[in-house]
Amino acid sequence: MEKAYINGEKLAVQEESCYDRMKELKAIDDTKAGVKGVADTGLLYIPRVFVRPPEELAEEEKLLLVDKSEIHEPMIPMIDLEEMENRRKEIVNEIRLASESWGFFQLLNHGIPETVMDKMIKGVANFHEQDTEVKKQFYSRDFTRKVMYQTSFDWFQTKSAKWKDTLICSMLSPDLLDPRELPDICRDIILKYTEHVRILGDTLIELLSEALGLEKDHLKDMDCTKSLRVLGHYYPACPQPKLTMGAHKHTDPDFFTLLLQDNIGGLQILYQNHWIDVKPIPGAIVVNIGDLIQLMSNAKFKSAEHRVLANQVGPRLSVASFFGTAAMKSSKINGPIKELLSDEYGKDQPVYKNVTVPEYMKHYYSKGSDGVHALSHFEL
Ligand code: OGA
Ligand code: NI
Repeated sequence: MEKAYINGEKLAVQEESCYDRMKELKAIDDTKAGVKGVADTGLLYIPRVFVRPPEELAEEEKLLLVDKSEIHEPMIPMIDLEEMENRRKEIVNEIRLASESWGFFQLLNHGIPETVMDKMIKGVANFHEQDTEVKKQFYSRDFTRKVMYQTSFDWFQTKSAKWKDTLICSMLSPDLLDPRELPDICRDIILKYTEHVRILGDTLIELLSEALGLEKDHLKDMDCTKSLRVLGHYYPACPQPKLTMGAHKHTDPDFFTLLLQDNIGGLQILYQNHWIDVKPIPGAIVVNIGDLIQLMSNAKFKSAEHRVLANQVGPRLSVASFFGTAAMKSSKINGPIKELLSDEYGKDQPVYKNVTVPEYMKHYYSKGSDGVHALSHFEL
């Protein structure tokens, strides 16, 4: 093994002639021990499959040279749901502003008890940290499986592999998952957390409908909360975090996502061409608008690009609950909502072609995280 340097970081590389990327990806995949299995070997240099291409790293270096003192670094909006019945109009307006400009906001007093959130983070950690032999049984990239764990869905596709593992549970598709399919080690807390997430999801979809100027039940009646997939991410501590990514720049392929993160940090959103940290706030739930609401709202609401940095400190844990998933075989959505096509909403013509959820998902999952906004493919 030779040593090379990229941006001042030492890099373990094999000679070009004997580097077979596919073979190395397959070797890690075959262990079924995930990225955690790689991290647990105590290596000092990350394997080359995880190293971002030189042009991407150079781009990142350039961003670091920008004099940030000139930039007013804004915080993503915080929205408090306390006393919602009395403050509904105000809250709907806050959600509208946040969804139009950021596509991201943090919620406080959202009704999910802190004890449930803490136990959910712990439950996901327990899943990833249990005996590999037990965990292996869930290792799969077959999306017809309702419960599985994997490195990433596009492991063999991306230019650099992501430094994370994910437990995926299709909780509603649209019927409630048979609880026996869940891993023993975190079954109870996943069920409990899902109960709370569904209640919050139902509240939020009404608020989002109203924020679009639609009747409260409009989006719910379009089945936006009929399908729910809960993802438990595990980002191991990384010896060379600057060279890789926890998650590449992407948008979420759903209606909206409710994200619970621990206190480590690393999630960033792209806002006016700057990467802004989504700082962990104890007790808060992060909400982000997904591609399907951007599509239905004719781009009034924004599905913002975001990413997760790798970190020397870890593991970092997060739980992303996706409302609307690839499991939706059909839906009532096939393009921008007619009621929203008027000058009052900024545009009287649709900006996207008609597309069904299955067509959209097929595009999203076949292209992988290539840095291109998935919706641009459907622009008129
Ligand atoms: C996702 C995602 C962010 C995080 O699951 O799509 O962006 O903080 N997760 O793990
Ligand atoms: Ni995401």
